[in-house]
Amino acid sequence: MNIEDIKKVLIIGSGTMGQQIGAVCAVHGLDVVLYDVSADALKNGAARTEKLVPKLAQIYGRDPKSAGRIIPTTDPNEASDVDFVSESVPEDPSLKEKIFTQFNGICPGRAIFTTNTSSLLPSMIADKTGRPDRFAALHFHDVRVTRIVDVMPHKGTSPEITETVSGFARRIGQIPVRLNKENHGYIFNAMFMNLLASALTLWTRDVASIQDIDRSWMGVMHTPIGPFGLMDQIGIDTVHKLTEYWAKKTDNRQGMANAEKLKPYVTGGKLGAKTGEGFYKYPGPEYSAKSFVEGS
Ligand SMILES: NC(=O)c1ccc[n+]([C@@H]2O[C@H](COP(=O)([O-])OP(=O)(O)OC[C@H]3O[C@@H](n4cnc5c(N)ncnc54)[C@H](O)[C@@H]3O)[C@@H](O)[C@H]2O)c1
Repeated sequence: MNIEDIKKVLIIGSGTMGQQIGAVCAVHGLDVVLYDVSADALKNGAARTEKLVPKLAQIYGRDPKSAGRIIPTTDPNEASDVDFVSESVPEDPSLKEKIFTQFNGICPGRAIFTTNTSSLLPSMIADKTGRPDRFAALHFHDVRVTRIVDVMPHKGTSPEITETVSGFARRIGQIPVRLNKENHGYIFNAMFMNLLASALTLWTRDVASIQDIDRSWMGVMHTPIGPFGLMDQIGIDTVHKLTEYWAKKTDNRQGMANAEKLKPYVTGGKLGAKTGEGFYKYPGPEYSAKSFVEGS
């Protein structure tokens, strides 16, 4: 399949990521079928996707007038003539399996299937897609702030399809980075999670204060934010959930201690920027002051 043959894309799930991926496809001239199982979620998701189009057109230097159509639907049969599928339903392997089996029966045989999963591996669900050779992960970050996307095939993905998925990513203005093998957390997230875990360990072991850990990272790397500031942006509840999940899964005692240390923030509703307080107070967190790195 040539990239030019991809004209119509199915987005499964109209939540946070489905909206972004749908809008970035439309902005690059592709027709988008936006499917959700919930009519309420779809109404909200479609409105947000439409709203994102002019914003992304500006970011990506595209003419919003040449954007593709967005076709919101709760009818799976609208997918009968799509060329490419991007799945963004909740992170539940059995749900993802069910969805791919369902759409394998509806989409044309030529269609390429991709998942935007954060933590699962494509090989875990490949068989259920009914077309494992035409299936890979295409993982987006926030398309408003970065164009980097992970392309992660599994052992059974045809090399030609991996190439096409990368080409598709470029077609919609993204920068594909290719994994040679499956890896939990892809490329950026794998490095990033280790950074956060190291920062949490320094704090949990009382090696240094939150401020000095952030100051150290910001001062050496010349970044406007450090690991604890970043955790405030992500949401301490999400960081806690991930830390606890991986600590249990890998039987990691330090990880469990880090999760325990985060717990009072979660139970106390100090979840970060979204609640006005986490490791720092918002708006105007301490680390955003020019003098923060100097420590005065
Ligand atoms: N949020 C992020 O920052 C982010 C980043 C990269 C990847 N991801 C991954 O993307 C996927 C989606 O995450 P999200 O944050 O967009 O989730 P979300 O909860 O915002 O949206 C999920 C959507 O899927 C819909 N849905 C549920 N069951 C469905 C079904 N059977 N058929 C069709 N739609 C269904 C829901 O109604 C909802 O609208 C997850 O796998 C997640 O790990 C998330």
